[in-house]
Amino acid sequence: MSIGEVTKPPRTGRAFSRLLEPPSYVEPLDLSGIFGRSAPLHVDLGCGEGTFLFQIAAQKPDKNFLGIERMLGRAHSTARKAEKIANLRVLRMESSYAIRYLLPPGSVEQFYLLFPDPWPKRRHQRRRVVTDDFLDAIHEALADNGKLLVATDQLDYFEQIKELTAGRSDFATRPADHVDLPRSKFEVKFQEQRIPIYRLELRKISPVI
Ligand SMILES: C[S@@+](CC[C@H](N)C(=O)[O-])C[C@H]1O[C@@H](n2cnc3c(N)ncnc32)[C@H](O)[C@@H]1O
Repeated sequence: MSIGEVTKPPRTGRAFSRLLEPPSYVEPLDLSGIFGRSAPLHVDLGCGEGTFLFQIAAQKPDKNFLGIERMLGRAHSTARKAEKIANLRVLRMESSYAIRYLLPPGSVEQFYLLFPDPWPKRRHQRRRVVTDDFLDAIHEALADNGKLLVATDQLDYFEQIKELTAGRSDFATRPADHVDLPRSKFEVKFQEQRIPIYRLELRKISPVI
């Protein structure tokens, strides 16, 4: 069975042809096998129901898009949207694990991390996905000059991410308010409530040898 095929139909009885079932959880994904072609890869971490991902994948048919989402119902919603276009796949998995173990080194042109779970209470903040280890894994998976775009409504999370990146010489950072992209479901929600949004772009810098 190839990686793009579905092994078990979901409870609805409807197969999601775009929901990946990796043949191994420790070997890197065969990206050209999955997409049926080689093209730059963009990955949406915590893609939710795939509102943003579907729109951007439809706008950029020359790129491959992968959504990673840990909640089953949301991964299915994204997979349902993905059936309408050729360049979008979904992986139901914890993002950090997938980045570290399943994405081949140097394979990603662009990551999106849009409104990661905020965990605002101090005692919960260690559950936040962005850590030094997470950034190490992102760096490894990115191609040269590849980027991670982060958006959040949580100022203290944003400051925490800036602090983490300030201590690293392997990323160049800049504010990302200039970036013109489709709006995600949470972005629409926050903008309707006039909640400020903070955005940062991290670009991979390779060491000069
Ligand atoms: C606040 S929602 C934002 C959804 C979408 N990115 C948007 O902007 O509309 C965060 C999403 O990330 C998913 N998520 C949180 N932590 C995750 C993790 N470690 N791995 C995969 N998905 C995660 C949640 O299940 C949820 O769907």
